[in-house]
Amino acid sequence: MSLKDAATQVRHMAYAPYSRFKVGAAIRATSGTVYTGVNVENVAYPEGTCAEAGAIAAMCAAGDYKIAEVFVIADSPEPVPCCGGCRQKIAEFAEPGVQVTMATVDGKTKTVTVAELLPGVFTAAHMDRA
Ligand code: THU
Repeated sequence: MSLKDAATQVRHMAYAPYSRFKVGAAIRATSGTVYTGVNVENVAYPEGTCAEAGAIAAMCAAGDYKIAEVFVIADSPEPVPCCGGCRQKIAEFAEPGVQVTMATVDGKTKTVTVAELLPGVFTAAHMDRA
């Protein structure tokens, strides 16, 4: 199954009663396995956790730690950019050249690299003198 189909399908499982904004994410790891995630909200923290974070958690839980490609989809007028926290989470597991595609359910897409998604990323190398 394509990343687009996986993200499109899983989006319906999102738990988003507060924003009513369902997001689906699919990650292909360098192993070839596809992991999916949805946003999950709760009453105390209505922003909840993002679909991208869910897919990353599923990947790690399977013992996979390298991202090859990301696809995120929502029902919005324009492709929804990943939030700041998710940009850092994706950058933790992906090389700068990895492609991240953001899509709308009606077919608009925007593809950027991880480096474009989070310019000036904080990395472990910045702590080399610690
Ligand atoms: N959300 C995601 O899951 N991914 C994004 O890239 C943007 C925002 C979710 C979080 C929250 O459940 C809802 O969208 C509104 O912020």
